[in-house]
Amino acid sequence: MAKQAEKYITTDGWSIVEDGFHKERNAVSESLFSLGNEYCGIRGYMEEGASAPSLQGCYFNGVYEWAEKTNETAYRGIIKRGHYMVNAVNPIKTEIYIDKVKLDIGVCKIQNFKRKLDFKSGLYMRSFTVITEKGKVNFVFSRFLSMTDCRSLYQRIEIDVDYAADIEIFAGLDFAVKHWGKDGRWTKVKSSAEGLNCSALGKTQSTNQYLACFQNIELSHPAKTETVESGYSVGAKISAKLKEKFTLTKHVSSFVDKTGKVGEKLLKNCKPSAISYGDALKDNENYYKKFWEASDIEIVGDEENQQGIRFCIFQLQQTYHGIEPTDNIGAKGLTGEAYSGHAFWDTETYCLPYFLFNNQAAAKDLLLFRYNTLDKAKERAKELDCEGACYPIATLNGNEACDLWQHASLQFQPSTGVAYGIMHYVNVTGDTKFLTDYGMEMLLEISRFLRSRGEYGADGRFGYFCVMGPDEFQMMVNHNCYTNYMAKKTFEYTVQCFEKYGDKVNLGATKEELKAFSDCAEKMYIPYDKKTKLFEQHDGFFRLPHVEVKDIPITDFPLYHHWSYDRIYRNDMIKQPDVLMFMLLYGGDFTFEQKKANYEYYEPRCIHESSLSPSVHSILASELKKHGEALKFFGFASRLDLDDYNRNTCEGLHTTSIAAAWLNIVYGFGGVRSDGEKLIINPSIPDIWQGYSFKLNYRNCNITVKVQKGKATITVSGGSVNAIVCGKETSLSGVTEFAI
Ligand code: BGC
Repeated sequence: MAKQAEKYITTDGWSIVEDGFHKERNAVSESLFSLGNEYCGIRGYMEEGASAPSLQGCYFNGVYEWAEKTNETAYRGIIKRGHYMVNAVNPIKTEIYIDKVKLDIGVCKIQNFKRKLDFKSGLYMRSFTVITEKGKVNFVFSRFLSMTDCRSLYQRIEIDVDYAADIEIFAGLDFAVKHWGKDGRWTKVKSSAEGLNCSALGKTQSTNQYLACFQNIELSHPAKTETVESGYSVGAKISAKLKEKFTLTKHVSSFVDKTGKVGEKLLKNCKPSAISYGDALKDNENYYKKFWEASDIEIVGDEENQQGIRFCIFQLQQTYHGIEPTDNIGAKGLTGEAYSGHAFWDTETYCLPYFLFNNQAAAKDLLLFRYNTLDKAKERAKELDCEGACYPIATLNGNEACDLWQHASLQFQPSTGVAYGIMHYVNVTGDTKFLTDYGMEMLLEISRFLRSRGEYGADGRFGYFCVMGPDEFQMMVNHNCYTNYMAKKTFEYTVQCFEKYGDKVNLGATKEELKAFSDCAEKMYIPYDKKTKLFEQHDGFFRLPHVEVKDIPITDFPLYHHWSYDRIYRNDMIKQPDVLMFMLLYGGDFTFEQKKANYEYYEPRCIHESSLSPSVHSILASELKKHGEALKFFGFASRLDLDDYNRNTCEGLHTTSIAAAWLNIVYGFGGVRSDGEKLIINPSIPDIWQGYSFKLNYRNCNITVKVQKGKATITVSGGSVNAIVCGKETSLSGVTEFAI
């Protein structure tokens, strides 16, 4: 693996800490110290502003703009307009002057800088001392987003002085934020202010969505105050001569109207909550206490990976836990503007399992997002001259938003991923009503699409011509093995569901149609060499020129910025698992020898340019008993952002790959498999760990798997679970020990 860690975060089991200000890494820290609660996400920026690399981002799930129409005359099938999540507002706009000098820690003389994000409360704190000409001024900035009242954001600024300092603070709401460096995303802002409190309402330029914010401030000591309203920002100016500790506590309540139905009435209709900072923080502590009791992963003997995996779980929970069925999980969550807030096939393929075993209602909501956008997927199929439903490669609202036509028109892993997600959901939850209410309709439409997009070649074999699989370094190929395999499984599952439950639905699937699906599945071409046991990633892959990826210098990453676009595509270097991906998803279909042969062939060719890649390799390496390699890839996956392996964490967290780090523990070291009808658990333990444990909620039972050297202890509460543990069929209840 050619990539390396850039370490500067202090290791701790329950928090991330930056000790000393790493100015040049400020934008990376802003991503790492992001807060979210699904409704809203705010980067860990310095609210008072700092001369340092920075993206002051605050985003609301589902608040977006249409992109300018640039493709009016484009070819058929190429999208005419995309859409992107907007940087909405700076709800904690702050300016501070000490003795008339602006506080800017990129410029001022400072000492003892520390910032910390606590996983047990979601509290983000930053403290430092400013050395002025007259003495010292200590600052502590704290903020958190409420997990129980998603509309509430709390901010506190504590200032302590060792001399009588003149302090001036502006605290307000600022809608004049930049998006990708461009000004002004709101058509107009209505604001009003009274004393320390104020409110503001903005409307998006193209989508008719509204955002209303209310600010409420309390001060520890009386101070001179005046209101300030200027175009896009509103707030209060507070001036005082400080002789003792001074505290400003601010509560912002934000309300979104995504449909435009409430409109300007939002300001009048919405009632900000009156819960105090202290009570709200206690609520957050209780929320996280329960959350960690149910979902923690503990690793004994490896502090770095312990911190890494808790960071991943914490950030995933912040991003999504199922508060609204219109929400999805963007590749960067709510932590940055790269990928425009879009959700990808990542949701069903990488994130869904976490929710299947921790929060089934949220898992169902994720699938309902696809059900509720089925009509848009049907429209998309039509645009591609196909039948049925083609799910978008990138989207916020169900419409295809990817303006790179090769991806939008040639990648079908979102569609096969939805089908896989439905199958996985039903296997894990046993919820067959979901199948008849929603799942089968989606399966039927996806299969219709796959049938109409696929073709029988001159040799009579069925498959996909001119496609791109998960390995995006192979742009337009024939018979991408992943696409063919996943389509085959989709057809088979669809037919199976209709055979079993066809009489319970009325979806207009004819016998001929189902027979045609079976024929596509049967004749599907899966390029495979029996002698070597290798699946060929696509027709002709084995004949491509070879690139030795381990010799690529670290300074060439990210490759997209350092290699000419076409240079990336004309060799056998792969971006992320493709063959290995379907061998993982449908692991039960392949033998140990097949997995070994393909892992050993494809792994050295993989550059892991997608952050989704290392965890998949780690899971397979565990299964193949390559324990050292599995641990190495896990370290990459669990600390991908903390150690900025891909050198782009400044743009936002790799939220969907942090879900993959969870998979890495559970499916990798834990050896869990859930693609069949029975749960499989087959744990192993890396040499350097003394132990680890993880928790699953399965069919109304809570399962804790605790793994130590030589043994696994499985505790089940709430009933019994039929599973295959360490190769043996067993009914688990209470506490059972297994030798490993
Ligand atoms: C990967 C895709 C992924 C997307 C969003 C790309 O770099 O190649 O597979 O869906 O990132 O995470």
